[in-house]
Amino acid sequence: MIAPTPPMGWNSWNTFGSEIHETLIRETADAFLEQGLKEAGYQYVVIDDLWEADERDSDGRLTHDPAKFPHGIKALADYVHSKGLKFGIYSCAGSHTCAGKPASYGYEETDARTFAEWGVDFLKYDFCYKPAGTDGPTLYRRMGQALRMTGRPILYSVCEWGSNKPWEWAAGVGAQMWRTTGDIEDSWESMERIGFGQNGLERYAGPDHWNDPDMLIVGMYGKGNVAKGGCTDEEYRVHFSLWCLLAAPLMIGCDVRNMTDATREILTNRRVIAVNQDPLGRQGFRVGQEWDKFEVWMKQLADGSVAVGLFNRHESWGRKIAVAWESLGLHDRRACRVEDLWSGEDLGEHRGSFSAFVAPHSVVLIRLTPIV
Ligand code: GLA
Repeated sequence: MIAPTPPMGWNSWNTFGSEIHETLIRETADAFLEQGLKEAGYQYVVIDDLWEADERDSDGRLTHDPAKFPHGIKALADYVHSKGLKFGIYSCAGSHTCAGKPASYGYEETDARTFAEWGVDFLKYDFCYKPAGTDGPTLYRRMGQALRMTGRPILYSVCEWGSNKPWEWAAGVGAQMWRTTGDIEDSWESMERIGFGQNGLERYAGPDHWNDPDMLIVGMYGKGNVAKGGCTDEEYRVHFSLWCLLAAPLMIGCDVRNMTDATREILTNRRVIAVNQDPLGRQGFRVGQEWDKFEVWMKQLADGSVAVGLFNRHESWGRKIAVAWESLGLHDRRACRVEDLWSGEDLGEHRGSFSAFVAPHSVVLIRLTPIV
């Protein structure tokens, strides 16, 4: 299996857009080690769109923008590998990428072979400039087959924005993850609309096939390519908590060379990441909702415990939010130990229900372990 638990890594798009070059990618790989990201489980360093030259080379192969990547992609992949990390790249199912560079339609086998030769471990495959009359499942099946034929294990990340219900067919064409939505922006509204909109897709996810509600905006603070006002640290904590409950791929989108302490603490919290990486591979779902603003989400974990998020989506009103054991499928009389996952604090033994005050745009994330 290529992705027994949700993939973890970094992608250049959210912060850097077209401003990518080999020094940035090398420094990012270095930062994975220096900032504790590798140790926390982050593995893939992925270059998004705009790494490409304007034209294919004389052999019809995709090639790099020589100004951005003077030593070529293979040398960069080798560098990333030398750090014990994995290397990812981007192409598109149409004739051009979304940013207008040459893409893989009609060149699927050539490109898959090129990527394998370069040592690519992850391919994000977009959906712009499709020729009329072609359909998503067919185009994605072609590249899926071409990747398989290389013999190299390459994680296949389908990015068709949920247009053709990829949760119904993308695993069948060889994808380990597929986007369920359009692009995220660095704002509470964008994160909230996407994240809380994932309910109902949980039955399509599991080991080696994950729903992908797009990359993380944690730590962007309103700067970079998808900036839209930014979020507070507490809002980023809500975002990260929700993505962990959703068993979503954790692809960091900020500049990891320059993280604040708060950003680093959010992105590397072991207890919270363990919820995302739990080997059972269940995607969480909503079990309670009041006035569209106060929500309870749960995720079952392999050891029989349950992760629960008490979310306050209200912008100014703090409120006590409760979770009843009954809504988690636990009998009322069952005693559970409750742990606060962000702080690690033991919140004691509880029966029947648990409640906590949750500030506006905030979350209380807990783990309930039934005491046998
Ligand atoms: C699309 C994708 C984004 C990004 C850009 C690159 O919009 O959804 O994630 O890859 O293309 O052009």
